[in-house]
Amino acid sequence: MDLKSKIAIYPDFPKPGISFKDINSLIKDGEAFHEVTDQFYEIAKALDVNVVCIPEARGYIFGSALAYKLGVGLVPIRKPGKLPGEVMAKSYKLEYGENTVEIQKDAIKTGDRVLIIDDLLATGGTMKAAIDLVELLGGEVCGALFMIELTDLKGREALKDYYVRSLIQFPI
Ligand code: PRP
Ligand code: MG
Repeated sequence: MDLKSKIAIYPDFPKPGISFKDINSLIKDGEAFHEVTDQFYEIAKALDVNVVCIPEARGYIFGSALAYKLGVGLVPIRKPGKLPGEVMAKSYKLEYGENTVEIQKDAIKTGDRVLIIDDLLATGGTMKAAIDLVELLGGEVCGALFMIELTDLKGREALKDYYVRSLIQFPI
């Protein structure tokens, strides 16, 4: 299946100069969403994963389906102020703007093998912040998976110490 053709592209959204890759057109297509989940599973099943970590919001979509197939649990990483109890926070630069993310301190146990999955790799800032939070809690990041990679933004360089896979690539 040509997954790339399922991604709708919106020029100048959310700001002029940004070519927005919209996953909604893909996930609305049941066969395409199934195919994507199967492809993620084929990658993830070899990694001995026991936790899937999902950055809010779009990471939730692919991560939930994958965790179900792997038979493991989910750990959300959320925007500030959403998680109860003790949290750990990390700030980072986004493709457009700046952001902070949080994780619950008791969400990861020492030695957990954590797979982090998100919809898009742009600068890698979001994923690197997620990795840092997981590692601060003692987890071992066994992979970083993405639906889409924007290769010209060189997010892979920010993640060079990790196993990174993306299902489809656009230059930018
Ligand atoms: C988007 C996207 C990735 C991130 C990629 O999230 O879903 O999580 O940016 O950019 P980066 O590699 O430069 O960090 P965003 O926070 O914009 O929105 P969302 O809540 O819809 O996922
Ligand atoms: Mg996101």
